[in-house]
Amino acid sequence: MIISASTDYRAAAKRRLPPFLFHYLDGGSYAEHTLRRNVEDLADIALRQRVLNDMSELDLTTRFFDETLSIPLALSPVGLTGMYARRGEVQAAKAAESKGIPFTMSTVSVCPIEEVAPAIERPMWFQLYILKDRGFMRNVLERAKAAGVTTLIFTVDMPVPGSRYRDAHSGMSGPNAAARRVLQAMTHPHWAWNVGLRGKPHDLGNISTYRGNPTGLADYIGWLGENFDPSISWKELEWIREFWDGPMIIKGILDPDDARDAVSFGADGVVVSNHGGRQLDGTPSTARALPAIADAVKGQLKIIADSGVRTGLDVVRMLALGADCVMLGRAYIYALAVDGEAGVCNLLDLIEKEMRVAMVLTGARTIDDINADMLVRELKQAAR
Ligand code: FNR
Repeated sequence: MIISASTDYRAAAKRRLPPFLFHYLDGGSYAEHTLRRNVEDLADIALRQRVLNDMSELDLTTRFFDETLSIPLALSPVGLTGMYARRGEVQAAKAAESKGIPFTMSTVSVCPIEEVAPAIERPMWFQLYILKDRGFMRNVLERAKAAGVTTLIFTVDMPVPGSRYRDAHSGMSGPNAAARRVLQAMTHPHWAWNVGLRGKPHDLGNISTYRGNPTGLADYIGWLGENFDPSISWKELEWIREFWDGPMIIKGILDPDDARDAVSFGADGVVVSNHGGRQLDGTPSTARALPAIADAVKGQLKIIADSGVRTGLDVVRMLALGADCVMLGRAYIYALAVDGEAGVCNLLDLIEKEMRVAMVLTGARTIDDINADMLVRELKQAAR
């Protein structure tokens, strides 16, 4: 039974998914310190309880560029979403739309742009990686524009992929990986029937559309490994800035100096993120990095935060620490893996309910009322 947004979907997804997929989703890089800190530091943020303020009317809507969001939340780009549920990107996009929030499609999604965009009316957001194959980057941007994508999320914290040790142990990579994945699928019949058989093609939709031939999971790992570009700098991003008419948001900012550079570059927003602890292990959690970034650039561009968000309370905490909007990564994929579109809708409802309770008990009637005044700073310092 699903009662808690934070733990129940994860536990159910672990039962449902073949281990190679569960651990690819659940794991982080190296010793997973940053992965753990993201969740723990956020959960550690204490909020001031305020009472007797007539909190009968709440407004959770927020404006974000030209959009109205029903809650200040968007779905993060997650590669291979279509391996977690049948045509998973379409299901997640529909759930986001029915809840009134944006879905962000990853460059390395299973479904191509041309399959997901027509399935919803709300314009989706699109995430692009910096890749050596600039022809692909231009092609996919043109296709995103043609499909009505408004907001571009440009991910900059993956010039090289971080090593995720769990993948080698689980069968995602490593010796006999393909045979191990088949064996795991056979012992997870619900997934094998719904996704393994009926969710095909298991392609990297955006890339195979560009290359004109199918790409499988082994190609995915190989292609990613070969195509990330460590030579990239701000200068290289200028052609994308010129090409893209809509908002351009830089994802993977963790340092105030980089956030200032994003302002100088002319970015419309940043995602304060450590990629969910999947890249540089040992970075501060987003909860720790966010206040200094907000001090440096708040008001000059939009600040989105992700990494470690599991509950509605976490969303409120991120807003109090300085975010304008929050993104969900693993949390929504666990729900998608368990119950598809309905699972994500239910998760978003749970998150909204939890936000409402937090807002009533902190005296915040609107999203703008959620700010640093809500944080119990003195107590936190005294406790250390
Ligand atoms: C990701 N993330 C990611 N980010 C991105 O910009 N493009 C991508 O394709 C992916 N792929 C991806 C796959 C998986 C399995 C995970 C878990 C994450 C990072 C993602 O957008 C987001 O930053 C993190 O998931 C946020 O951390 P939490 O909420 O998962 O803790």
